Amino acid sequence: MRYLVTSALPYANGKLHVGHVAGAYLPADIFVRWLRLHHEDVVYICGTDEHGTPISISADREGISPAEVVKRYHESIRDAFIALNISFDNFSGTARPRHSEISQEFFTSLYDKGHVIPRSTKQFYCEHDRRFLPDRYVEGICPRCQASGARGDQCDACGQIYETTTLVEPRCKICGNQPVIRETTHWYLQLDDFREKLTEWIAKKDYWKENVRNFMLNLLEQGLIERPITRDLSWGVPVPLADAAGKVLYVWFEAPIGYISSTAEWAEKTGQPERWKDYWLDPETRLIHFIGKDNIIFHALIWPAVLMGQDKTYCLPHDIPANEFMNLEGQKISTSRNWAIWVDEFLQKFPADYLRYYLACNAPEKGDSDFSFKDFQQKVNGDLNNVLGNLANRVFAFAERNFQGKIRSKQLSLAGKAVLDEALDLYCQIDDGYRDYQVKKNSKLALDIARLGNRYFDERKPWAEIKTAPDSVEETLYVCLTLLSLVSIALYPIIPESMNRLRSMLGLGIAEDWECPELQADYVLQDTKPLFYKLEDAQIEAEIAKLKENSAHNSASGVYEPIKTEISYDGFAQVDIRVATVLEAEAVPKTSKLLRLRVDIGSEKRELVAGIAEHYKAEDLVGKQVLMVVNLEPKMIRGIRSHGMILAVHSEGKLRLAVPSASCRPGSVVK
Ligand code: 2FM
Ligand code: ZN
Repeated sequence: MRYLVTSALPYANGKLHVGHVAGAYLPADIFVRWLRLHHEDVVYICGTDEHGTPISISADREGISPAEVVKRYHESIRDAFIALNISFDNFSGTARPRHSEISQEFFTSLYDKGHVIPRSTKQFYCEHDRRFLPDRYVEGICPRCQASGARGDQCDACGQIYETTTLVEPRCKICGNQPVIRETTHWYLQLDDFREKLTEWIAKKDYWKENVRNFMLNLLEQGLIERPITRDLSWGVPVPLADAAGKVLYVWFEAPIGYISSTAEWAEKTGQPERWKDYWLDPETRLIHFIGKDNIIFHALIWPAVLMGQDKTYCLPHDIPANEFMNLEGQKISTSRNWAIWVDEFLQKFPADYLRYYLACNAPEKGDSDFSFKDFQQKVNGDLNNVLGNLANRVFAFAERNFQGKIRSKQLSLAGKAVLDEALDLYCQIDDGYRDYQVKKNSKLALDIARLGNRYFDERKPWAEIKTAPDSVEETLYVCLTLLSLVSIALYPIIPESMNRLRSMLGLGIAEDWECPELQADYVLQDTKPLFYKLEDAQIEAEIAKLKENSAHNSASGVYEPIKTEISYDGFAQVDIRVATVLEAEAVPKTSKLLRLRVDIGSEKRELVAGIAEHYKAEDLVGKQVLMVVNLEPKMIRGIRSHGMILAVHSEGKLRLAVPSASCRPGSVVK
């Protein structure tokens, strides 16, 4: 079977963070490594997405050329992938000449067949800068929800999409002036021309992930509207038509073509420039796009239509495993607010395999997941050290002490056979799992093989048997070493570096040269060392503090604290907030921040501790009304049972109590 695997092309407009890696890159790398282990014909393609308005806006802001922005981030992203051992066969970029050529050919094919037609439309034009302003170059008030700071085509506050020209009080983002509306021409892709073919094609994709398939079926049902695929910009691939001066192809039209141009670049590097055709022009090729959920519409609908409308017969996506998002410490990752873990910085402090392992255990496959430093520490210390590392350490130490590290294969007892059978069964499940992109499940199954080994070692008690039955001990060690060799393959796609180290200690060749799952005859251990080291509390706490500090630093410079993960209406409805009247207040002895309050919440009187002593005097609070969460579980603070929490606002270093704007009956519910 021939596979062409791609990961979404990251914008060359910022550094790589762990959220990117968890969705579209690590899962693809793991899949590809498994296929390669099994000698499948697979090419893994990526590159940076180098056009689009965010890049030209960054360039304008910094006063440099878009090409300079692209170069900086292309290198930074490429290096981060290398450090993380993401094993692309080629990593290209969409600003390269070959990409332009192929993209123009794609446009022309569609145009010649009448699938792309021009239309005159109205668009904002800045008379000061003498240019049209594509979506992100304008900002104003959202015509739907009246929020300010809405973008030309979409409002971040309400998420709605609208006609750009309906934006209220529009402003040019370059000079701040009010733009005018002018006529311009754009070329529209007639998506509806492909409706039948797309419907037929998607009908056969019953093995797709539900989120992707349902999304597509929904879109097809709603009807396919034409989409403009050109923009008025100077940075991009020029539209190959005589009457389209100053226009470029829309970034989302040409970005996926980058998968092809990167494959062509790879073929050239291998010395067989035509080889890309073996993949792209063979209908049997399994073309698999790993993406994040925000890219589904482009990969599952527009891109296949574009491929269908070509002169050449391209293969269509076989599968589109789209992942959900990864949050960070309970909040959405936000690059502008610096609420992110940057891959390059992280890998200066922790081994790549620790990050790979954690992201695999925590892959956002079915729903959003969360990166938490404490959990990261637990997975590294618990799974890698206490389970896998421990098995390797104890078996190696025992074999070296008692057998000089040489363990021969044995006629296995029933117990030994049963353990290996169980492990081989896990191994088969792991094989299925990798082929089905189940990274999270597989990280657990592979560890289960090591757990099995620890249990078996404990049961066999080799330390008690060594004097009386050395043969039986050798069998125990042989079985455990075989389990370790199975783990070295089963976990290789996830933590390749460590598993190759393990293989070398076992006296085996590197995983890349592994031939088949036949069991090893004898083991000669070599240069054994601990496989992993534990992460200390202090190191983890320092990382958490740094994350908060960096993001607070951004807050102080005018950017706001990250918005917490979205909650449901039901989730919010569970919080019971009521008006409380303060009856008594006094300082908590030996503290500078805490006050003890007694409050009346109508139905009862409560006691609680509040951290407001630096901002309010106890005597000033008596008689005041405050807002209080009344259904929070009670907590012991300094020996006081604190039952409830009063609400306050942090603003510029000060704390202000949240109070009702007029006197209310105690116990009134806040809605
Ligand atoms: O969302 C993104 O980061 C895009 N740059 C992904 C492009 S994927 C492909 F089409 F190139
Ligand atoms: Zn302007």
